[in-house]
Amino acid sequence: MGEATVRRLHAAGARVVIADVADEKGKALEQELGVRYVHADAGSEDEVLAAIAEAEAMGPLRISVDVHGGPAVGGRLLGKDGSPMGIDGFRTTIESYLISFFNVMRLAAAAIAGRNRPRTAVAASSSTPPRSPPTRARSANSPTPLPRAASSP
Ligand SMILES: NC(=O)c1ccc[n+]([C@@H]2O[C@H](COP(=O)([O-])OP(=O)(O)OC[C@H]3O[C@@H](n4cnc5c(N)ncnc54)[C@H](O)[C@@H]3O)[C@@H](O)[C@H]2O)c1
Repeated sequence: MGEATVRRLHAAGARVVIADVADEKGKALEQELGVRYVHADAGSEDEVLAAIAEAEAMGPLRISVDVHGGPAVGGRLLGKDGSPMGIDGFRTTIESYLISFFNVMRLAAAAIAGRNRPRTAVAASSSTPPRSPPTRARSANSPTPLPRAASSP
């Protein structure tokens, strides 16, 4: 699904960074399409940030698609002999399919929201000053709202 997504976005004219742990496959696609490949484990903050930085070197990040696979351990809560399913496999599955996906989502969302770009780039496309939005209580980790633009890029 990742490869199909890369091909579709590339064909549509997007500048694409592939982030994967399968270096051979990633580099082959890099060579074929002229996109960038970065080795990045979806669960690693540093590696995902490095992949995002690679994308942002080409322009503002607009799209993040995470369809990584990984080890998934299934089983019955209770085996036929009455023994409980092991916890290690469950932990691995949650780590790979829940924590790692969330890791990519949160870091990509911050980049897409423009946390690393000058705010003026967004405000510059508005010819009239935006009306102040109503004041709302925000939680400690709420992102700072971006100024509204008449026509955002
Ligand atoms: N193919 C289907 O029909 C289908 C249906 C439902 C859900 N899914 C899920 O969608 C996802 C993708 O499916 P697929 O068929 O494209 O799988 P795939 O095995 O073809 O590709 C998964 C890719 O994820 C990479 N990967 C594995 N662990 C990684 C990690 N920690 N960090 C970064 N990359 C990692 C692998 O190297 C591989 O390139 C999987 O999570 C799968 O369970 C697939």
